[in-house]
Amino acid sequence: MKGDGRCLKLFLALLILFLQNVKGGEVGHNHSHSHSLKDAKVTVRCIARERQALLAFKRGLVDEFNQLSTWGSEAQKQDCCRWEGVYCSNQTGHVIQLDLGYSFPGKIFQPDIFGYSFQGKMISPKLIELQHLQYLDLTLIDFNGIQIPDFIGSLTNLRYLNLSFCQMVGQIPSSFRNLTQLQHLDLAYNWRLQAENLNWLPALSSLTYLDLSLINFNGSQIPDFIGSLTNLRNLSLSYCNLVGQIPSSFGNLTHLTDLDLSRNFNGSQIPNFIGSLTNLRNLRLSSCHFIGPIPSSFGNLMQLQNLHLSYNQLQPENLNCLPALSSLTDLDLSGNFNGSQIPDFIGSLTNLRNLRLSSCNLVGQIPSSFGNLTQLQHLDLSYNQLQLENLNWLPALSSLTDLDLSRNNLSLPPPPTPILSTTLYKTNSSTSLAYVYLSDNHLTSSIFLWLSNYSLATLELSNNNLSGFIPDFLGNMSSLEYLGLSDNQIEGANPNSFARLCNL
Ligand SMILES: *[C@@H]1O[C@H](CO)[C@@H](O)[C@H](O)[C@H]1NC(C)=O
Ligand SMILES: *[C@@H]1O[C@H](CO)[C@@H](O)[C@H](O)[C@H]1NC(C)=O
Ligand SMILES: *[C@@H]1O[C@H](CO)[C@@H](O)[C@H](O)[C@H]1NC(C)=O
Ligand SMILES: *[C@@H]1O[C@H](CO)[C@@H](O)[C@H](O)[C@H]1NC(C)=O
Ligand SMILES: *[C@@H]1O[C@H](CO)[C@@H](O)[C@H](O)[C@H]1NC(C)=O
Ligand SMILES: *[C@@H]1O[C@H](CO)[C@@H](O)[C@H](O)[C@H]1NC(C)=O
Ligand SMILES: *[C@@H]1O[C@H](CO)[C@@H](O)[C@H](O)[C@H]1NC(C)=O
Ligand SMILES: *[C@@H]1O[C@H](CO)[C@@H](O)[C@H](O)[C@H]1NC(C)=O
Ligand SMILES: *[C@@H]1O[C@H](CO)[C@@H](O)[C@H](O)[C@H]1NC(C)=O
Ligand SMILES: *[C@@H]1O[C@H](CO)[C@@H](O)[C@H](O)[C@H]1NC(C)=O
Ligand SMILES: *[C@@H]1O[C@H](CO)[C@@H](O)[C@H](O)[C@H]1NC(C)=O
Ligand SMILES: *[C@@H]1O[C@H](CO)[C@@H](O)[C@H](O)[C@H]1NC(C)=O
Repeated sequence: MKGDGRCLKLFLALLILFLQNVKGGEVGHNHSHSHSLKDAKVTVRCIARERQALLAFKRGLVDEFNQLSTWGSEAQKQDCCRWEGVYCSNQTGHVIQLDLGYSFPGKIFQPDIFGYSFQGKMISPKLIELQHLQYLDLTLIDFNGIQIPDFIGSLTNLRYLNLSFCQMVGQIPSSFRNLTQLQHLDLAYNWRLQAENLNWLPALSSLTYLDLSLINFNGSQIPDFIGSLTNLRNLSLSYCNLVGQIPSSFGNLTHLTDLDLSRNFNGSQIPNFIGSLTNLRNLRLSSCHFIGPIPSSFGNLMQLQNLHLSYNQLQPENLNCLPALSSLTDLDLSGNFNGSQIPDFIGSLTNLRNLRLSSCNLVGQIPSSFGNLTQLQHLDLSYNQLQLENLNWLPALSSLTDLDLSRNNLSLPPPPTPILSTTLYKTNSSTSLAYVYLSDNHLTSSIFLWLSNYSLATLELSNNNLSGFIPDFLGNMSSLEYLGLSDNQIEGANPNSFARLCNL
């Protein structure tokens, strides 16, 4: 938006300069146009020293695709406040924002895995001339193994610092303790950064957002003092190679809305005090080697929308705290509850959009209360030992797009005759179900009758007990792109109707 505005102003200024030349200084009659011309011509807000600093910074980048073409020392480019990604204070003319990150207007992403925007050789020390800088975003510039320079700590007016995906290495400089105004600090995805000394962190008491994901803590514990940053709203320390437990000081972080500690720790229970962080909306504690039950205090997390506890070794006791979480939209409990039944309460979480209970070794029936989950879009119950009496609940899930029941113990009888006669050959394309995975079960060909009402894109039925001919009506599923039937006892050729399936 800001970029568009600036482009427009630049365009108007150039247009008017052009008109001036053509008409010998006469500008059109529109008063407001001539007014903006005056402003544009008279005010070169940019401060020369800061322009030099920005040009030095540019020389530290490899601008292969000329993304910084607006940055230059030519006469018509003097006003650095008009350069792409540079924002000045309207009052003082000082550069207050440098944004070459994701929202940089002229961004061109490289065809590598992360889509780095620039290669960087260095961050010029001249950057410290930008003493009024409040916002610095260099996300996705590939600095290819340099250290975060000490002098960043001298930019003491910074409120926002984003150096995620920058390929930085080494220790985070202790000069960061001078960044006492900082509210947002994002150093994520610099996996060669080391975080053994975070003594500077307690000084940043204004922090509301801290993301150190994938930074290497090299098998140390979470420093207690992170719990003293009580203004934090978003905290991520996922994939940090942390051991030990979540420190009890985290119980002080009552403003947290987002907490992600996935892929850390080495064997303890989920601490009770997590349940006192009642502002949490997103809680991710996957792959943390947690054992034991989900604490009953979780019943207090009434705002929770996303709960990911997958791939721990949680036990199915105490789950009666979860039905209270009626605002949940996304629940992933995969890889837990070895050998139990699907908990009854799942059917009462009627706002769920994503439900994953894969790899839980679950036994028993898929309960008909699943028919209550009318908002569900993705349902993954794969890799269990579940059984199925019918699919009567499926039509109620009118938002469902993906159904994965592969690797279970499903053997489904044919649908009752009335359903059969009314629905067969009448593909109902108003349902959203598109991807159905049912491989590695004991299903017979009657499964086709249960699904005859849908217009699927993918139907995976490999390794079941299908027999006989492929039913003709599958040819009516005009959207079918993939049909997996290997490892069954199907006879004969494909039905003639398949000629209509041009995407298959
Ligand atoms: C003058 O310019 C303004 C802003 O671009 C525009 O809204 C307005 O319609 C113009 N007036 C005339 C008389 O052209
Ligand atoms: C500075 O001016 C620009 C353009 O006129 C405007 O879009 C922006 O909101 C102003 N910023 C402040 C902080 O006043
Ligand atoms: C930093 O940039 C990344 C990539 O654009 C973005 O995902 C992240 O939210 C940003 N961090 C903050 C604090 O805004
Ligand atoms: C940080 O602040 C301290 C004390 O105010 C000062 O001595 C030090 O030079 C500063 N460090 C940087 C990198 O600016
Ligand atoms: C990580 O910790 C191990 C000991 O636990 C130590 O030998 C190694 O030097 C540390 N690595 C770094 C980069 O500090
Ligand atoms: C912080 O968390 C909130 C709540 O989930 C979210 O809406 C917001 O986008 C997050 N902030 C950033 C900068 O990502
Ligand atoms: C934070 O929690 C710890 C341990 O629970 C407690 O000792 C400490 O006083 C608390 N600190 C603040 C700032 O509330
Ligand atoms: C976790 O790792 C630490 C450091 O390697 C070790 O001292 C501790 O015994 C481990 N704890 C468990 C429960 O494995
Ligand atoms: C799951 O339970 C079964 C039977 O009780 C046991 O043999 C198996 O080791 C358990 N698996 C895990 C990952 O705990
Ligand atoms: C869910 O479905 C079951 C049976 O299918 C029904 O008895 C129950 O009242 C429903 N619960 C809610 C919360 O809608
Ligand atoms: C699989 O289902 C059959 C009935 O279809 C049942 O007899 C068997 O016990 C089930 N196996 C498991 C592991 O649940
Ligand atoms: C098609 O599906 C919609 C939504 O589930 C349902 O309301 C409608 O009755 C169905 N039509 C037929 C012909 O089955």
